[in-house]
Amino acid sequence: MMKRMIAGGLLAAGIFMGCLEVGAASAEPVQAEKGKVAVIFFSWSADGNTRFAAERIAAKAGAKLYEIKAEKPYNTNYRACCDEAKPECHGKLLRPIRKIDGLDLAKFDVVFVGTPNWWGTMAPPVRTFLMQNASALKGKTLCVFQTNGGGGMQRVAKEFAEIFPDSKILPAQAFTGKLVRKSVKALDKFVTDRVTLK
Ligand SMILES: Cc1cc2nc3c(=O)[nH]c(=O)nc-3n(C[C@H](O)[C@H](O)[C@H](O)COP(=O)(O)O)c2cc1C
Repeated sequence: MMKRMIAGGLLAAGIFMGCLEVGAASAEPVQAEKGKVAVIFFSWSADGNTRFAAERIAAKAGAKLYEIKAEKPYNTNYRACCDEAKPECHGKLLRPIRKIDGLDLAKFDVVFVGTPNWWGTMAPPVRTFLMQNASALKGKTLCVFQTNGGGGMQRVAKEFAEIFPDSKILPAQAFTGKLVRKSVKALDKFVTDRVTLK
């Protein structure tokens, strides 16, 4: 009887600890004032998977939406774009980007950043944006989301967090690109799990 109680207790503790781990990954949503949330994204393909995710996330978060654009656009052909981006992604090189009209990061407390997964990492224009604005973003609550061709998160969340060692980083999420239009509920939950609007 005693043995069974101890075993039961250990099992309950294990389940509880498991829950804690899950809880830690999704944490409590942060409180954000309306108008103090921004969504900033880069999207390349004609399907606009990351654009779709970013638009939905911005709508749910009542956020301003901004697009990162490469100074010199990538080749519109998939294969050619992959070849063009490969050395940039592998070398963590910074692809020059255009100035984003009307963006004043000082106005925002929470910033969501959206990128396609390119060669396992963030698209170079996103890396450029983060590096160019690292000090303006430093004191904010940050969160990255990405869409991918099936590879999942890969190095995106890790490398994003590495750029901001002193910031509050909310859990990242990956969405499968070709399913993103069927993932509206998951996109909404992505927001509500992370931010509560005051
Ligand atoms: C240059 C390039 C590299 C890519 N590398 C990966 C990858 O390593 N892993 C992956 O799962 N998908 C990869 N993809 C697929 C995209 O992440 C996926 O199609 C994404 O949803 C596209 O987003 P977008 O429509 O916003 O451009 C790559 C696509 C391109 C163009």
